[in-house]
Amino acid sequence: MPDDFGFNRLPDRPGQAVTIDFEGEPVTAYEGDSVTAALLAAGHAVTRTTPVRGTARGPFCMMGVCFDCLLEIDGQANRQGCAVLVSEGLRVRRMDGARAVTAEPEDA
Ligand code: FES
Repeated sequence: MPDDFGFNRLPDRPGQAVTIDFEGEPVTAYEGDSVTAALLAAGHAVTRTTPVRGTARGPFCMMGVCFDCLLEIDGQANRQGCAVLVSEGLRVRRMDGARAVTAEPEDA
């Protein structure tokens, strides 16, 4: 993570380390992290791009209000990353532009 990123883990962070997949790359997270917090801690500030102009967006509120943290999580589009806790093997992708809304995860 860049030194000037402004988002760092507390040194006494408890919890078991887990690995999630973000855009095909492994990201180390800790039990109790939200997906968004884990991505920020790993230096990934962009979670989606806007459907019309493709502008990069990143998490802002971290409490389910702004919807700027939308991600595809385990095949399900439009999930708020700040409201989903990490678990081992979770597959996460950015929401790039407009996506079809799916009723069920891909592997359900
Ligand atoms: S960061 Fe605002 S809704 Fe998730």
